[in-house]
Amino acid sequence: MRDFLPEEAKLMRYIEDKTRVVAGLHGYREILTPIVESYELLSAKAGEEVKSRMFVFEDLGGRNVALRPEFTASIARLVATTFKNEPQPLRLFYVGSLYRYDEPQLGRYREFWQSNYELIGSRKPDADAEILILTRNLMEASGLKKVAFKIGHVGVLRSILNQEKLKDDIQSKILQLMDKKNYEDAFRLLKDTGASEKSMTTIRSLITLKGNNFLEIAARIADCVSDCEKSVEAATNLKEILELIAESGYEIEMTLDAGFARGLEYYTGMIFEIYVPDINIALGGGGRYDRLVELFGGESTPAVGVAHGIDRIMLAMQSQKTTTKTRGEKMTIVIPVNEELRSEALRVSRMLWNAGIPTEVEVMGRKITRALEDADRRKMTHAVIVGERELKEDSVVLRDLTKRKQSIVKIGRVVESIRE
Ligand code: HAM
Repeated sequence: MRDFLPEEAKLMRYIEDKTRVVAGLHGYREILTPIVESYELLSAKAGEEVKSRMFVFEDLGGRNVALRPEFTASIARLVATTFKNEPQPLRLFYVGSLYRYDEPQLGRYREFWQSNYELIGSRKPDADAEILILTRNLMEASGLKKVAFKIGHVGVLRSILNQEKLKDDIQSKILQLMDKKNYEDAFRLLKDTGASEKSMTTIRSLITLKGNNFLEIAARIADCVSDCEKSVEAATNLKEILELIAESGYEIEMTLDAGFARGLEYYTGMIFEIYVPDINIALGGGGRYDRLVELFGGESTPAVGVAHGIDRIMLAMQSQKTTTKTRGEKMTIVIPVNEELRSEALRVSRMLWNAGIPTEVEVMGRKITRALEDADRRKMTHAVIVGERELKEDSVVLRDLTKRKQSIVKIGRVVESIRE
């Protein structure tokens, strides 16, 4: 877990601001859930990888709890309980810290931050397309370039495995192996389960289908699985989502990969991740999970969502040298020329604070030259020097530290002069 020093904290909050702007733009309402929840809830369908990396402990009440490794389970819990009578679609947004005992390396931390968007209540491809477009809009708002999507559909492979009557956990294992391109072990496991030669052949051809001519590949996937009705349904659903994207007017670079799977086990439909060329780890990922809410005792509720790794967006912005457009930040230091004028300095500062001008007061008792040197070093924009002579005239010295000019200004005009 890391410390965020001022520059990093600023960039992090800058991105967080963008995630809120995008949430507002698309009608997602922010919620907050606890960092600690029941282990049982957080681990259900989290997938072996995430489950094995959770911070789990017993609380003083003897309950088995964990630090949240993601938000989706907590949101599904809310949808199954508090929000059960809420009209749908529900659009929920969340930003906050998460905890996974991952091996620390660039872009992989034990405490990290996500912005998370969930669209609950729609089975339509329009909802999947919305999550993809929203993600594209967040990347643009962060100023990132060359963002590419990797997309797939777990329904295509799972339907074939279902037809072979494979249990969910074996299916997940096979999908994980395929996702890691460990095809040899995946096919060995498939063979051990007694899967038919025909299904194995279909899967062998499926995993070769990938590329960025996504509409064409989607059509080829549908052809490839023509013997399995549910799998064709999944491929058709994916094709519909991709057609909506292609016709939306947005240019989204996308690679379709039929053998793509994600670590979390709750996905039932379209899945995706986003990348930029500079770093080879995903900046975000998501997908459709139509059965998680009912797992938590709610009604059967379709849902699709995405989480973006704020830490990784930050890394990508640093590596692409993205400029952050913040308002020209003015910072003023108020310096009393001697100790007797400290309260006068505070009175002038009060006026600046009331006017919303960021202001510090010299609290080290330094002489003016030292205090000004320090203000320069810290790139402050203005200094107000409170001296006896000027005070008699109801004035102070206002020094523009960027232009290196100073003038005597009536106290009543200081705010205005700084704003100029
Ligand atoms: P996830 O793929 O586990 O999905 O995480 C989403 C993003 O969080 C990743 O793409 C990555 O950017 C970031 N992330 C994950 N682990 C770390 C880490 N150790 N250090 C830094 N960043 C990390 C989910 O969490 C799902 N809940 C997404 C979702 C929402 N699916 C549907 N709705």
